Amino acid sequence: MLQRLKALFGKTSAAPLQTLESDNIPQHIAIIMDGNGRWAKRRGLPRMAGHHSGMKAVKRITMAADRVGVKYLTLYAFSTENWKRPKAEVEFLMKLPQEFLAMEIKDLMEKNVRIRIMGYKEDLPSHTLKAVEDAVALTSGNTGLVLTFALNYGSRKEMIEAMKSIGRDIRDGKLDPDEIDVPDVESRLLSTGLPDPDLLIRTSGELRLSNFMLWQLAYSEMWFTDVYWPEFSDQHFYEAVREYQRRARRYGGL
Ligand code: FPP
Repeated sequence: MLQRLKALFGKTSAAPLQTLESDNIPQHIAIIMDGNGRWAKRRGLPRMAGHHSGMKAVKRITMAADRVGVKYLTLYAFSTENWKRPKAEVEFLMKLPQEFLAMEIKDLMEKNVRIRIMGYKEDLPSHTLKAVEDAVALTSGNTGLVLTFALNYGSRKEMIEAMKSIGRDIRDGKLDPDEIDVPDVESRLLSTGLPDPDLLIRTSGELRLSNFMLWQLAYSEMWFTDVYWPEFSDQHFYEAVREYQRRARRYGGL
């Protein structure tokens, strides 16, 4: 029982890469990167230092995901609710994508990583949008790991927009309400083109989804850890994958 609880909350000792089964790697891992502020506070640093350190973890975990053979990595970088934070923090967070990309784009290109953005672009500051759109364009021909930044993303808004689109198509006689099926909804979500996540990781000890990929996570395995995002290491990442490999996925069947 204790072992199971430890595994559920990711408190087991970190796993080395060699312990992973190469034929059962999650295709898509989504991460709620949480705990930057608390990490900084614990060190007597400003919250921004936590976000900056969190940016370094983004590079580390992208490389670890690529090494393991994950095909899609989706990172929750800014939610539709994060605008409620103090202006200075929002401005700082909005500068991180361009700082990250300026620093790392060369390595990402070398690793054949393709960058995508999932979120409501129209509300992003122009400097943020330009940096990510340039990176999306530059990496569009890459065929390796697909790294998606959920930026100004919110699942409820995503579902409301999908419902509106369905409503318009019904009104215009293009869709029969009795015929609506899963693809009709999925083709209207921001995640179109991405498979559903196999594994969701959330750092920092919080046990909630915070409006992240609510539709897409329907059958995902979840793994929570107390570790704050800035100190989330390759070994923690491997441990999450290792725990995923111990799970039996049944999708409602037996
Ligand atoms: C949640 O931690 C984290 C965020 C809202 C921002 C996440 C952003 C990064 C990790 C950097 C993103 C980097 C790129 C390249 C886009 P929190 O601030 O809520 O932490 P707390 O709960 O401890 O206060």
